[in-house]
Amino acid sequence: MNITDPAINSYLHKLTPASHPVLLEMEQYAAKHGFPIIGPLTGRFLQQLVILTGAKRIFEMGSGYGYSAIFMALVMRAGGTIECTETDKENIARGRKHAQAARVGKKIIWHEGDALESMRKAKGKYDIILCDVDKEQYPAALGIAWPKLRKGGIMATDNTLRSGRVVTEKPPKPGTAGILKFNRMAYALPDALCTLQPLRDGLMLAVKR
Ligand SMILES: C[S@@+](CC[C@H](N)C(=O)[O-])C[C@H]1O[C@@H](n2cnc3c(N)ncnc32)[C@H](O)[C@@H]1O
Repeated sequence: MNITDPAINSYLHKLTPASHPVLLEMEQYAAKHGFPIIGPLTGRFLQQLVILTGAKRIFEMGSGYGYSAIFMALVMRAGGTIECTETDKENIARGRKHAQAARVGKKIIWHEGDALESMRKAKGKYDIILCDVDKEQYPAALGIAWPKLRKGGIMATDNTLRSGRVVTEKPPKPGTAGILKFNRMAYALPDALCTLQPLRDGLMLAVKR
């Protein structure tokens, strides 16, 4: 199921200026290898969040080869850091190379291994937390990440409409079930204001009050 009408989607893509050359190269790699990245529409939306919150500390759960992190790093103020988490060594190596090429290597710190474990060990509060791990892990990720977000901070979680499978998959498979549970949990948080944006594959925004 399309989240947005294909004609509207195409219009939005045509309207959006081309990405930074390094991001463009990463988009081409993703298209060629079928690697799931957030894409330029969500990338620009995340950049707006970085600017609006004045983010200096960002934590990303599930970073792939750094496409979403580089998007955010490009608009982050000097001295800010983005902590990336990834289990796959090759993705991390590729991510480091691209971050250097985009001249944001100093802003990005890589943690190899399980994102939920790294988040559990992380000290201090974050301005933005981006969640893009395996979908069945979303409920657990929310439980671990939410206390680490500062008041006024934003947790952004990708794929929360999952190509429409949140309404079409009956009974839901484990990934979709994880998202359905996560969406209910996020809206039920007493100290959160949530909206699920129908942007690309669905982006849940939870602002901490
Ligand atoms: C959808 S991709 C991330 C894409 C990235 N956010 C972007 O848009 O450029 C998900 C990545 O998270 C990694 N991943 C999934 N679950 C993870 C976990 N629990 N800990 C660390 N990495 C994880 C996968 O290896 C994969 O590279």
